[in-house]
Amino acid sequence: MDSEDAITVEKTQIDAFLDSATQAAKVIRETAERDGFIHVFSHLDADGISAAGVIGKALFRLDARFRIRITQWVDEKIIGEIVADKPELVILTDFGSGYLDLLNEKIPTFKVVILDHHQVTGTTQNPNFVQVNPHLHGIDGATDVSGSGVAYFAARAVDPKNVDLAPIALVGALGDMQDRYDQRKLSGLNGLIVEDAVNAKLVTVEKDLTFFGRETRPIHRTLSSTTNPFLPGLSGEEDKSLAFLSSLDIPLKSGDKWRALRDLNEEEKKRLCSALAEYLLSKGLHYEITNLIGHIYVLNNEEPCTSLRDAREFAVVLNSTGRLNRPSLGIAVCMGDRSAALEEANKVLEDYRKDINKYLTWVMEKPERLKELENIYVVNGEDFVNEKIIGTISSIIISSLPNVEKPLIAYAQVAGEGVAKFSARTTDIAINKGVNLGDVMRVASEQVEGKGGGHNIAAGAQSPLDKVATFVQLVNDLVGKQLRGEKVGSDSNA
Ligand code: C5P
Ligand code: C5P
Ligand code: ZN
Repeated sequence: MDSEDAITVEKTQIDAFLDSATQAAKVIRETAERDGFIHVFSHLDADGISAAGVIGKALFRLDARFRIRITQWVDEKIIGEIVADKPELVILTDFGSGYLDLLNEKIPTFKVVILDHHQVTGTTQNPNFVQVNPHLHGIDGATDVSGSGVAYFAARAVDPKNVDLAPIALVGALGDMQDRYDQRKLSGLNGLIVEDAVNAKLVTVEKDLTFFGRETRPIHRTLSSTTNPFLPGLSGEEDKSLAFLSSLDIPLKSGDKWRALRDLNEEEKKRLCSALAEYLLSKGLHYEITNLIGHIYVLNNEEPCTSLRDAREFAVVLNSTGRLNRPSLGIAVCMGDRSAALEEANKVLEDYRKDINKYLTWVMEKPERLKELENIYVVNGEDFVNEKIIGTISSIIISSLPNVEKPLIAYAQVAGEGVAKFSARTTDIAINKGVNLGDVMRVASEQVEGKGGGHNIAAGAQSPLDKVATFVQLVNDLVGKQLRGEKVGSDSNA
């Protein structure tokens, strides 16, 4: 998306959003002052973990009594926990706005603060619920602020000292791929967080190749582990990436140490850029050189050459802890732990990478695992792909599919629960043609007695296993409708 195409957000909308954050902060502060017990629930991806880290740190500084739990969604189990524990305050970060009806039906008398950026579904006038969500003020929650950003604005309103959490909020936004403005820039409310972070000298914004592993990996591994953009023949292919670089006369080592992207000089970077642009064009992919260059968010206080220095790499560390059932490590890192938790998190990251490779290889092994229907692509992860990693797999595969107008849905079985977890992803091009996956997932899942929702570009759902075929067909039909300009479900503002 080009910043000039972005919907203009008026100052009054931002002010209204910030006012709601101030209201949330008031409830949080008052509960902490009364020494009331606070139960925080957050989503398991990088953004959810960052959000939990931001709120966790703010609560810690208030000396509040609190507990944080990370889950994939809000369901009856979570409600059961709330009813049993009777916290004085429930805080939901990076989810909640899609569950208003459920909350209102099951726990209407509980005080609930929702710090979210998903499309709002359901209504409630419940005075016990305070909801901070950009969509309520006409601000796009898929591009302009993430769950961790919303949590950050609330934390900053709790205490200005929490401005030092701005870098974590940016990590969450990048984890949610909100760098969708020109040259992968964060803008909108995210831009305000960048300003805070830069003013506090915590973050430096640079422009460079946005390849993954800029700080930590040998250059050929940076190339081979990059999936955005997907480099056919290089992504996932370490040997070929090495050969590619060698053909450009770019030394891979300095002494006996591997060089990382951060070590290349300007001339070498230019050479690499042009060669890549040419290579992509030769594969029929119309990438401009400028698309390979983007904004880099460097966390000044993190050690150079570590996985936390580049905010995008930091996000992957958090994602791995959430998706491999070790979210407390990610939260601890967000709250400042740079010793045991970080060391352990880096190990989890390695396992996560291995899993991703294993699943991608498996998907590509047999054609029936990646099918093309009339309006969508479908990946069936069966009981092989971990249902918590299916979202990552979906995000990676979408960027390598030939028809950019066709969204992708990937699914896998949730062990022992008789349901499949779906992760849907699409492109800006399809969105401009009318696709809104949040609506598609919600409407299709309602028809199979599942649950779904999310953003226009990325959404998810659960469906009973015996209704998976129906669900897939419904999604295919609903996307078709949207592409023909018909409305699906209620009109949403994302
Ligand atoms: O729940 P939440 O909003 O945090 O998650 C959004 C998810 O959508 C993330 O996992 C992110 O990686 C994914 N996403 C994507 N492509 C985009 C935007 C978001 O895959 N362009
Ligand atoms: O799980 P996945 O990464 O595919 O989710 C994509 C987006 O859809 C996330 O922002 C997630 O929070 C949202 N989602 C939702 N309701 C669901 C499942 C996913 O809002 N039932
Ligand atoms: Zn999010």
